[in-house]
Amino acid sequence: MSEKVSVKVCLGTTCFVMGSSNLQELIDTVPKKYGDKVEVSGVPCLGLCSIDWEFSKAPYVKVNDEVIKEATVEKVLKAIDEKLK
Ligand code: FES
Repeated sequence: MSEKVSVKVCLGTTCFVMGSSNLQELIDTVPKKYGDKVEVSGVPCLGLCSIDWEFSKAPYVKVNDEVIKEATVEKVLKAIDEKLK
């Protein structure tokens, strides 16, 4: 039995401004695609934007412990597929 994959979409201000609003569709599409194998939620600032601010790699999404920088829907789905392998 494999563990659930957890996906956290950062909806903090920096990530939101940098495009995480596009990622909110994941909150609808991921459960449809993966059922209960993946748990997806929107979370407040993950604290990553302040560390990496200079390089501005927002928006960030966490898939389990993996941080996805400059996250896109495609990158997140790829990371989920990797975890489910
Ligand atoms: S707003 Fe996303 S990590 Fe801070």
